Amino acid sequence: MPTSHKKGMCFVAEPESDQRLGQNGQMSRIRAYQPTDLAAVYDVCVRTGASGADATGNYHNDDLLPDIYAGPYVTLEPGLAFVVDTGGCVAGYIVAAADTRSFVERYRREWLPGFAAKYPHVQPPVTPEDRVIAGGYCPESMLVSGVDDYPAHLHIDLLPEVQGQGLGRALVRTLLSALRDRGVAGVHLGVSPQNLNARAFYARLGFHPLPADPANDSVVGILTDAPV
Ligand SMILES: CC(C)(COP(=O)(O)OP(=O)(O)OC[C@H]1O[C@@H](n2cnc3c(N)ncnc32)[C@H](O)[C@@H]1OP(=O)(O)O)[C@@H](O)C(=O)NCCC(=O)NCCS
Repeated sequence: MPTSHKKGMCFVAEPESDQRLGQNGQMSRIRAYQPTDLAAVYDVCVRTGASGADATGNYHNDDLLPDIYAGPYVTLEPGLAFVVDTGGCVAGYIVAAADTRSFVERYRREWLPGFAAKYPHVQPPVTPEDRVIAGGYCPESMLVSGVDDYPAHLHIDLLPEVQGQGLGRALVRTLLSALRDRGVAGVHLGVSPQNLNARAFYARLGFHPLPADPANDSVVGILTDAPV
């Protein structure tokens, strides 16, 4: 669990690249996550954390959302984390867990102690912040209906300046390939009903409600061999 980091920093990119996309005069590439990307990934998570909008200042500690939705993944599953590098700056990422059931166990065992030391658990939760923290204490909430058919799950976020350039699709494609290499059949994610842009993006790529719970359109998934 990181205890401090600097916001908005740019980092010198590592030379290994697996994709290049030139858009609007700006060269962006997708590359594997490196530990030096941590602060930038946290920054992107906060700045897109309010259903796609900026969540900076929404909670007492801006680390709260990334300590739930980014930190555990880059720490426990760094091999499934990829970033958008715009030439020294990280402006987006995709992170994932290959097997949600084992990730839940590892989160509880390896991540939750640090999280608990940083965020007191208010029970019952009263404020919206209490409820977010309560979520961080309950990794079992990741065990959605259909998790065994779509065992991986992901989180993806891009800053506004790199949205709408095909990079989200490219990140998903990169992750699906990495999951296929590990023999993972499907991946799912939860999306807020308020996040209409993200919902349209996932639908366009072919994500669909999970067959085990077709009425729940807040959890969508895709098979890793689907063309995206
Ligand atoms: C949602 C998000 C990941 C999409 O990434 P992106 O790079 O902007 O999307 P892409 O440019 O790769 O779009 C891929 C396809 O989805 C479509 N699409 C993307 N956003 C769309 C929208 N709001 N409405 C309709 N279609 C959309 C694109 O038109 C494109 O289709 P095409 O290739 O057939 O032209 C990105 O905008 C983002 O990070 N938003 C803020 C954070 C967020 O909401 N994260 C998701 C939390 S669940």
